[in-house]
Amino acid sequence: MAALGLGLFLGGSILAIPVVTGVAEGVEHQKKQNEEAANETRMTKFNAFVSCESDDEIADEVDNGILVLRHNKVWIVPRDEKNKPISPVPDMKPPLHAFAGFYIQYPDDDRSPPERGLVSTISDDPPMLNWIYCDKQTYELRYGNRSASITHIVGVWDWTEDETCITLDGWEGFIAIDEWDGADEDNTTEWGREGLRWALYFDKDDNGLKGRRKGRDMFEVVLKRKIQSEEEQLKQMQEAEKKMQVKSRGDLKTQFTAPARELARKNEAARK
Ligand SMILES: *[C@@H]1O[C@H](CO)[C@@H](O)[C@H](O)[C@H]1NC(C)=O
Ligand SMILES: *[C@@H]1O[C@H](CO)[C@@H](O)[C@H](O)[C@H]1NC(C)=O
Ligand SMILES: *[C@@H]1O[C@H](CO)[C@@H](O)[C@H](O)[C@H]1NC(C)=O
Repeated sequence: MAALGLGLFLGGSILAIPVVTGVAEGVEHQKKQNEEAANETRMTKFNAFVSCESDDEIADEVDNGILVLRHNKVWIVPRDEKNKPISPVPDMKPPLHAFAGFYIQYPDDDRSPPERGLVSTISDDPPMLNWIYCDKQTYELRYGNRSASITHIVGVWDWTEDETCITLDGWEGFIAIDEWDGADEDNTTEWGREGLRWALYFDKDDNGLKGRRKGRDMFEVVLKRKIQSEEEQLKQMQEAEKKMQVKSRGDLKTQFTAPARELARKNEAARK
């Protein structure tokens, strides 16, 4: 059971997330998580659009972009008129996956006070969630399961006062860095081959990532929350309602509802 918090399957039902992670983390966490989870506003799913105010021509590559998740890193690519990511190369397999996530408390008893984390789907089929975190060594933004993220900076994720933009650790210190590694096709990274170029970083020390990325183009960027469609939101509200019912039903065992059991089974199956 302890491993359940790792790969979080959505399983068609958001309500199962706090329930499932809660089982691994104890009753206190369960309660707090349910409180936060019950907050529909926090659990409203959003995509993340990127804007960049620099006058530099190259900055156009990130301005009006969208966050995508690939190779365990968070990238910026342009978006089309339907607000879907535009792949830098044709026929990417699997296709680029746009960040689509929400806030939820990070399950870790050693973090006191508890920190609000940020999750995103990393694939639609199977529906699976990962934590978005800042690598404590490189300050690059990554995604991963609980064991991959727990020693890194997993929060506090928040929004600006008007709820329109994403913050981490109290401010909007996000930076796009050009990670294209040259034209040599035989000697390039996985992402280089896929034409991914702008990686997302967090300016943790508020010094413009001094001494970290010599000679690379970098731009400050703003991450805007783009709430998903009303239809999608409605679905989420219904799910939140179900969650409230689950919550009022009492102890941990009875909270372990059919969808959650289904999830647990999937998680179990996934680990084998
Ligand atoms: C839900 O989140 C909003 C925005 O942060 C906050 O104002 C509200 O108090 C929260 N509600 C609960 C029940 O925690
Ligand atoms: C968690 O992620 C790591 C890699 O970051 C992987 O090795 C491990 O198998 C994953 N655990 C689960 C339960 O998916
Ligand atoms: C790529 O080139 C760099 C130096 O330009 C070299 O250090 C590295 O080993 C090369 N990598 C591969 C996979 O050939």
